[in-house]
Amino acid sequence: MKKFTKTTRYLPKNWSDEAEAILQRHKREGHKLPSRHLLRTEEQLEGIRESAKINTALLDYLSENIREGMSTAEIDHMVYAFTTDHGAIPAPFLYEGFPKSVCTSINDVVCHGIPSPHEYLKSGDIVNVDVSTIYKGYFSDASRMYLIGEVSPEMRRLVEVTRECRDIGVAAARPWARLGDVGAAIQEHAEKNGYSVVRDLCGHGCGVKFHEEPDVEHFGRRGTGMLIVPGMTFTIEPMINMGTYEVFVDEADGWTVCTDDGLPSAQWESMILITETGNEVLTQ
Ligand code: MF3
Ligand code: CO
Repeated sequence: MKKFTKTTRYLPKNWSDEAEAILQRHKREGHKLPSRHLLRTEEQLEGIRESAKINTALLDYLSENIREGMSTAEIDHMVYAFTTDHGAIPAPFLYEGFPKSVCTSINDVVCHGIPSPHEYLKSGDIVNVDVSTIYKGYFSDASRMYLIGEVSPEMRRLVEVTRECRDIGVAAARPWARLGDVGAAIQEHAEKNGYSVVRDLCGHGCGVKFHEEPDVEHFGRRGTGMLIVPGMTFTIEPMINMGTYEVFVDEADGWTVCTDDGLPSAQWESMILITETGNEVLTQ
């Protein structure tokens, strides 16, 4: 007969007994904990880091090659070629029916824009390029904004503040803080600058699957939400609008998310690992 040994430990072995003790205290206090399968083992972290390295190299490559006059389909081709040349798979491709390898979202497109051979980057555009990689079964995810030609000061400022929102969110994502602390910090910075935070889309756990628990909202209240625990890997990817936070999905393709008022939106995305002392940025 197989012997059943009850384990009382919550964290995987690669995290310290001290962290385990702190976690048990929070558990007794009744805080919502992440499911154990979301806390990464050493083996998973190794694979996730390799995937993340390719994802970051891809964004660096795009930074050097995206130009005015190029179509978004050309960006898609670069993403597909670079990713497969590195022995990896672009995660968006055929994900829930998404038809391309990357999301390209220009100006009032908030996210999930579909690359097209008929859509050209023109001077004054701001474009978000969101890339996600599968390597040896492990997932990574990140996005950056690219400024095309002469961009207005108003739109430049939106892009800069959005990047600050992402960085402030990352700084707030520390062990034993709460997910609401991350959302609140981002929301405060966006609204202080006269912008709004998109409510309908959020960051997410990522690593073993493309999108896993928890949802990481970019707005909220401090001291609420799931406890942040060493070993979690998730994205922080605020979408910040110049006008209203309301968005709609283009009925024609079922994917493209646009601002209700047609004003521009920006997004920067990082994926992080929560460590025992803070976090490690895996992608940006
Ligand atoms: N990369 C996006 C994210 O940050 C998800 C895109 S889903 C896709 O979560 F199907 F559009 F690719
Ligand atoms: Co993401």
